[in-house]
Amino acid sequence: MKNTYVIEVKGLTKSYGSNHVLKGIDLRVERGTMLALLGPNGAGKTTTVRILSTLLHYDGGSVTVEGYDVTREADKVRGVIGLTGQSAAVDELLTGRENLVMMGRLYRLTAQSAKARAQELLEDFSLVEAADRPAKTYSGGMRRRLDLAVSLIATPPVIFLDEPTTGLDPRSRLAMWAIIKKLMESGTTILLTTQYLEEADQLADKIVVIDGGKVIAEGTANELKSKVGKDRLELTFANSKALESAVQALGKRVADTNTKEFTASVTIQDINTDVTSALDALARSHVSVQSMAVHKPTLDDVFLSLTGKQKQQTTDEEDV
Ligand SMILES: Nc1ncnc2c1ncn2[C@@H]1O[C@H](COP(=O)(O)OP(=O)(O)OP(=O)(O)O)[C@@H](O)[C@H]1O
Ligand SMILES: [Mg+2]
Repeated sequence: MKNTYVIEVKGLTKSYGSNHVLKGIDLRVERGTMLALLGPNGAGKTTTVRILSTLLHYDGGSVTVEGYDVTREADKVRGVIGLTGQSAAVDELLTGRENLVMMGRLYRLTAQSAKARAQELLEDFSLVEAADRPAKTYSGGMRRRLDLAVSLIATPPVIFLDEPTTGLDPRSRLAMWAIIKKLMESGTTILLTTQYLEEADQLADKIVVIDGGKVIAEGTANELKSKVGKDRLELTFANSKALESAVQALGKRVADTNTKEFTASVTIQDINTDVTSALDALARSHVSVQSMAVHKPTLDDVFLSLTGKQKQQTTDEEDV
């Protein structure tokens, strides 16, 4: 009987000397879905991916891919996975096309299908013009794209992508997303690590956040967002006197105030009724608002609040 979970990690631990990098990680990825592994630098994402792809031994727990144990059945695991590492693994002296064909041959494609698949990938990754130049003449972004193309040569059923879009320009990132979406439509099971929360939001079925060697949150993007709370209406007033009157007028609707910047934030359940009712209350008390914005929680808010980082400037304010 085939497992429902293509990737199953239970109680995974790994230390480097006294550095306990993974302190009991559990992960489960269902067939044909994508799990995004999020975490700050040094959280253990690459370590986890390297263990899953049989490149690194672990200390405790159990790790299976397609039901195969990554230690005892490493060969079988290698037969079903593709890996794109964080650092490029292309042969500098070969051309882009030669790199692809060589890798295709290593994966036992016939000469003809290796060539055909290489051409397809060169097109998908916009590398056709540079295809017949040695890889050492490529820019960083082109090399990255070639690296990804190489890892996709054999269309394995399970793919690990370790920060696949780091270092890509926005257009190449969108192209990469399109390629990943195509893979997902074809039923590939994917574990992706990323620093870009928007990427996880766009692509992943499920997100796991790790920090300090542990899973600190998991769920869909929406589930995680709902944890950081509701939409907020941010109101700015001219001075502290206006803010005081506003707080009186708004009463218990006020969730938070900032007396230095003369702002008050109001939790809103329904943007249509709650914003109007707050503004009505202010108008009745003759308090004028200088500016306002609706702030929706983003995955960045989730990530920052969970990993305890300083909150950065919000980027998704919508004017009302
Ligand atoms: N070969 C190694 N020897 C010793 N320590 C290591 C080794 N590889 C990784 N580490 C340590 O393990 C921890 C986790 O590293 P890892 O590369 O898994 O983090 P990451 O989540 O992938 O970070 P990033 O976002 O920077 O890629 C770090 O503290 C790192 O210093
Ligand atoms: Mg890493």
